[in-house]
Amino acid sequence: MSPTFNTKSATINMSSLRFLVQLIVLGFAFNLADGQGLKVGFYQKTCPDLESKVKEVVDQVISVAPSLAAPLLRMHFHDCFIRGCDGSVLLESPTNQSEKYAFPNLSLRGFQIIDKVKTAVEKACPMVVSCADILALVARDVTVAIKGPFWEVETGRRDGRVSILNEALTGLIPPSANISILKQGFQQRGLSVKDLVVLSGSHTIGISHCSSFSNRLYNFTGQNDTDPTLDPNYIVKLKIKCNPGDQNSIVEMDPGSVKTFDESYYTLVAKRRGLLQSDAALLDDNETKSYLKFQALNHGPTFFKDFGESMVKMGRIGVLTGTTGEIRKVCTKVN
Ligand code: HEM
Ligand SMILES: *[C@@H]1O[C@H](CO)[C@@H](O)[C@H](O)[C@H]1NC(C)=O
Ligand SMILES: *[C@@H]1O[C@H](CO)[C@@H](O)[C@H](O)[C@H]1NC(C)=O
Ligand SMILES: *[C@@H]1O[C@H](CO)[C@@H](O)[C@H](O)[C@H]1NC(C)=O
Ligand SMILES: *[C@@H]1O[C@H](CO)[C@@H](O)[C@H](O)[C@H]1NC(C)=O
Ligand SMILES: *[C@@H]1O[C@H](CO)[C@@H](O)[C@H](O)[C@H]1NC(C)=O
Ligand SMILES: *[C@@H]1O[C@H](CO)[C@@H](O)[C@H](O)[C@H]1NC(C)=O
Repeated sequence: MSPTFNTKSATINMSSLRFLVQLIVLGFAFNLADGQGLKVGFYQKTCPDLESKVKEVVDQVISVAPSLAAPLLRMHFHDCFIRGCDGSVLLESPTNQSEKYAFPNLSLRGFQIIDKVKTAVEKACPMVVSCADILALVARDVTVAIKGPFWEVETGRRDGRVSILNEALTGLIPPSANISILKQGFQQRGLSVKDLVVLSGSHTIGISHCSSFSNRLYNFTGQNDTDPTLDPNYIVKLKIKCNPGDQNSIVEMDPGSVKTFDESYYTLVAKRRGLLQSDAALLDDNETKSYLKFQALNHGPTFFKDFGESMVKMGRIGVLTGTTGEIRKVCTKVN
């Protein structure tokens, strides 16, 4: 059993804690999104059928459950933004203190699909392919399966041994984030303002719980008011789906094409119908605003290409490669 989940680690003294924090900060600063050690076709010799195996499972799953595409794409994002793309989002802990237990109500879905893919991969190539790489491949394959872009996925990530609930609580960018917080959150991880507006385009698929945006409908500044940046006609519609205090109902992020990966997100946001404050905030910066207006007006001519490029960059955040980390046998457990 790994020391990670040992409650005694809470008693570690202040100076070693400070040292640890420094190490983490340093490690992070030097290991942003350079992705050293990753390459397309990393498993070409050790697991030649990997990509076709992953695709086979994904295609089968998405053909019967297309709504799982969105949470599986999102899972790679959450993995990468906390501790780098190291599969930490998948770890279980006996006391529910790992990342996946942050925001229980808004939790990710589809973990069983990752297990299914891992099982198929382990059968063909035992102990060769990391769970972090499986997340990256699945994110690409679900996107393709719902008519989105294909991109070459770099592989060679190794799995981390640590997953801490609190890091997900404090490290994930909240839906209420303004443009400065968003830009900062991306920049800290080596991603650009363009990556921010491109990757936010993921919200062309999937759903959101009312709790992620209902402040915009009912109590924006604590005066029982609405968010002035949200189209008032859209507010009327959203209020029908989310009654006051309703946390758990769900709303489609891009109504009408929630299961199709397309550029319509940008049209929505440009019409002030972006569901989250973080979506609307993309109108508050010249660079993000001009990107989204361009995609909205011209039906997303470069969006697919841009999306693949930004996903590759996101997939490089804080990766473990070479002899660091491990190849987990089971994605929910350290070896
Ligand atoms: C820019 C900062 C971002 C914020 C603040 C944010 C926030 C959120 C929130 C609050 C939800 C709804 C969760 C719920 O209420 O159930 C959501 C859904 C989603 N997000 Fe993001 N997100 C961001 C960026 C991204 C990125 C970079 C990706 C992927 C590359 C992504 C992919 C998704 C997908 C696919 C869904 C739908 C999930 C589902 O249907 O279950 N998001 N996001
Ligand atoms: C962990 O979470 C599961 C389901 O979310 C719950 O059934 C279980 O009781 C929790 N365990 C602990 C130790 O809190
Ligand atoms: C953005 O939000 C942060 C934290 O809530 C706040 O400190 C900052 O002043 C805000 N920036 C703008 C431009 O509104
Ligand atoms: C609105 O927000 C204010 C300030 O946070 C809070 O005191 C008040 O109870 C909220 N009103 C409702 C109806 O939830
Ligand atoms: C907001 O609405 C609540 C419940 O409807 C009410 O009790 C409160 O006085 C209102 N607050 C303001 C600032 O209007
Ligand atoms: C989470 O769900 C519980 C029970 O379903 C509910 O009481 C709580 O208000 C929800 N919290 C959020 C933040 O959605
Ligand atoms: C953004 O664009 C507007 C109009 O094109 C311009 O007036 C403003 O100075 C620009 N702001 C920044 C920060 O570049």
